[in-house]
Order: sequence, then structure tokens, then C-alpha cells
Amino acid sequence: MSGPASRRLQVLRGQIAPPGSTGNAAAMSAEPVAAYGRPSVWAHIPEAPADPILGLNEAFKADPHPSKLNLGVGAYRTEDGKPLVLNVVRKAEMALVTDPNSNKEYLGIAGNAVFCRLSRELAFGTSCQAVRGNRIATVQSLSGTGALRVGAEFLKEHHPSKVIYLPQPTWGNHTKVFKRAGLEVRTYRYYDSTTCGLNFQGLMEDLMGAPSDSIILLHACAHNPTGVDPTPDQWKQMLKAIAGKQLLPFFDSAYQGFASGSLSADAAGLRMFADACPQLLLAQSYAKNMGMYGERAGALSVLCSSQGEAAVVASQLKQVIRPMYSNPPRHGAGIVAAILGSPELFREWEVELSGMADRIKLMRSKLHEALRQRGTPGSWEHILKQIGMFSYTGLSKRQVEHVTKKWHIYMTLDGRISMAGLSAKTCGYLADAMDDAVRNVPK
Ligand SMILES: Cc1ncc(COP(=O)(O)O)c(C=O)c1O
Repeated sequence: MSGPASRRLQVLRGQIAPPGSTGNAAAMSAEPVAAYGRPSVWAHIPEAPADPILGLNEAFKADPHPSKLNLGVGAYRTEDGKPLVLNVVRKAEMALVTDPNSNKEYLGIAGNAVFCRLSRELAFGTSCQAVRGNRIATVQSLSGTGALRVGAEFLKEHHPSKVIYLPQPTWGNHTKVFKRAGLEVRTYRYYDSTTCGLNFQGLMEDLMGAPSDSIILLHACAHNPTGVDPTPDQWKQMLKAIAGKQLLPFFDSAYQGFASGSLSADAAGLRMFADACPQLLLAQSYAKNMGMYGERAGALSVLCSSQGEAAVVASQLKQVIRPMYSNPPRHGAGIVAAILGSPELFREWEVELSGMADRIKLMRSKLHEALRQRGTPGSWEHILKQIGMFSYTGLSKRQVEHVTKKWHIYMTLDGRISMAGLSAKTCGYLADAMDDAVRNVPK
């Protein structure tokens, strides 16, 4: 071997410095591993499976087919299939980066205090008694996932019960987050595959059967993955059961405003519980409703019985956060706080938010119509009835595999599709694929 290949090998072995380096790194590198005289300490580690949702992205990227369609990942896309940065976000961001008084200092452990207050008010409403009475401890989090994890760690340490009930099915990461934090994960019945709707009777039986003090995870709106939400009356009955059994509600609000287009309508279940329950938790995310996915802006709120208790809880949340990541990032929270804190920007946000929600609703009716036109066997009403970013199509694992292999359409194996990934142009293509799968691939 000579020339460039030999040079690359020498660089890899640390025998010569890589091009452009000062040479110090090469001079500092020691003789490699063999000196230990035993296999690597990592040698026994099995390769972990790819994340079922993020792994889909990788497979999609590697597929060269021109008609390929990615309906796996829960991120909003425009009619042209492009990611969207909201105008209001760009505006707030521009003001932030050009502000001569802005800086890059560390935030406190609990994050941006204005962001926390405005997030709390957005979720619970300014007229909420607990908000008015300063009974809610809020910390900034690494988006919704971070809020769930900090909440879980807090509960593991301070809550009498370590058992959490998740809806069956639920967002795949819930189980992992709560298990990793050391909670015992159980499930309550939620989805009825025969009606593609809510199994309300099963849900109520399971809530009533949970030992008191158990933690109950509730999707605030736009249940992921099913797109099936309780009606207001069902929320009321759930509240009665949960309060009656002294269970602790943990709301996950990843889609406020995204489901119905109305921020307050999508918070109605949470607000009903906040008025009635002495304690509850809330994880909030701005990933979807502000399109701030990668900025990781979110909040964890813990509703407490008194202002003093909220101060104590806040101090303990900081104890959880400090050894995990010390303090949260400034940028995303700064943008959110600017939007929530300005009546003008807030109004602009509401318009853009309902624009996204409306486009998703339009995709539901277009897909439904396309299936109807094709006479695809089965009832597809659920596509219209389900709410939010996702629809649970009812396709089986085998049918999903067929759709991906033959039609290059990517979705999770449970048949969940992101309606936000569809466009007027691609609804027909998806309907063709679904029609083919339903007719030709047995469940
Ligand atoms: C139900 C639910 N909770 C939480 C999250 C967390 O999202 P993020 O951490 O990006 O805010 C998601 C994201 O898809 C979700 O669907």
C-alpha cells in the first residue's frame, strides 16, 4: 500500500498527523489497545435495536424510490412535504438574536422563569385557582420527553407509589422513560380495535382496579398513537374515578392547540382535573405546536396543595435536574417566552397553529374520500373521527410491511400514520396502497 491509502492508515493509527492538524494530537496519542491483553470491555455488548420511530427515518432516507413517503415521524410538513418554521418563531428569534442585551450566560437550574410562568398559564389558564394561588411548581425541561423524565425521577424519589399506569397503546417512549426512572409500568385499556375508538368501559374498569396512589398517565389531547380522545363527559367520569380512588394524574401535553386548533379546547381535560385534584403533574412540549422540535423547549409542572408545598417541590425538582444536565438551554425557551408574552405575537401564533391543525383535518377528509372512491373494503370513518397528528389506520403489521415494501410508504408497524406528512398530492397514492393491502394481504 502506498500513496493516499497508506497515509490514511497512518493517520488512523496516529503515526502521522491528519491533514490540517498541528500534529499535537498525533504526538499525544498512545500505543493502542493490544497492551491490555484482553478483549475490549465493550465486546460483550449486544447491538441495540434501532428506535422504532427514528429508525424508520433512516430506512426512508436510504430508499431511492421517487414516490417514497414518510408517514412515520410525528413532525409537521407543508403541502410540499417540507419542514415548517413558523413565521412567528422566525420573528421572535430574530428579535432575540439581534437584542444587544441578550447573552449566553447559564440559565438557573429551573430554567427561564418567565417561560415557566407563561407555560403554566398557557396550559392551566390564567383563571385556574392553582395558578392564581401560586400552587404550581414549574421547571423548564428538555421538551416533553425531558419533562416526563424529570417528573418520573421526582416521583420515584418522593411519591408513595412507584406504579404508573399507561394507556394501552401509548407513545412508545413512555414505557422506556418511566422504566428507566425506576417506576413499575402497568397499562390500562384504552383502544378498541373493533371500533377503532375508545374502550371506555375497559378504561374505567382498569382505573377503578388500580391500587390507590397509583400514577395514571393521561394524554391531554390528540392521543398518540391512536388519535382517539375521551369526550368531555368521559373526561368527567374519569376524573370521578381517579379522584375517588386517590390516584395521581400525570398529564402529557405534547399537542396543545394542534388537535382542534384551539389552545383552550385542547386543554379542557387537564383544566377540569386541575380544578378538582389536589395534586397532579403536567409535561408540556412546544415541539409540535410551535414547530420547535429540535429546540427542546418544554416544561414540567407539579400542582401542589399549597404555595409552601410548591416551593418545596420546586426545590426538589432542582435536585433532580442538577446532576442530570445542570440547567436547560436558553434559546428555545427565549423564543417561546417572547411569543407567549407578546399579545401580538401570541395572536399570530394562534393563526399559524390553527392553520396547521386545519391542514391536518383536510388531509383526513381527503384520505377518507380517496378510500371511499376506491370502494376500499371496511369502514374508514375513524380517519375522520380521530384527532391530532396521527391516525391509527387499522392496517395490520403484515399489511404495513406490504405497503412499505411495495409502495415505499413508511409508517410504524402498528399502522399509525402521521396525517401531517400527507399532502393533497399524496393522499391518492396512500389510498391506492391501503386499498391494495386491505384487498390482497390478510390481516
Ligand atoms: C405523546 C407524546 N409525548 C411526548 C412527546 C415528546 O416530544 P418532545 O420530547 O419532542 O417534546 C411526544 C412526541 O412525539 C408525544 O407524542
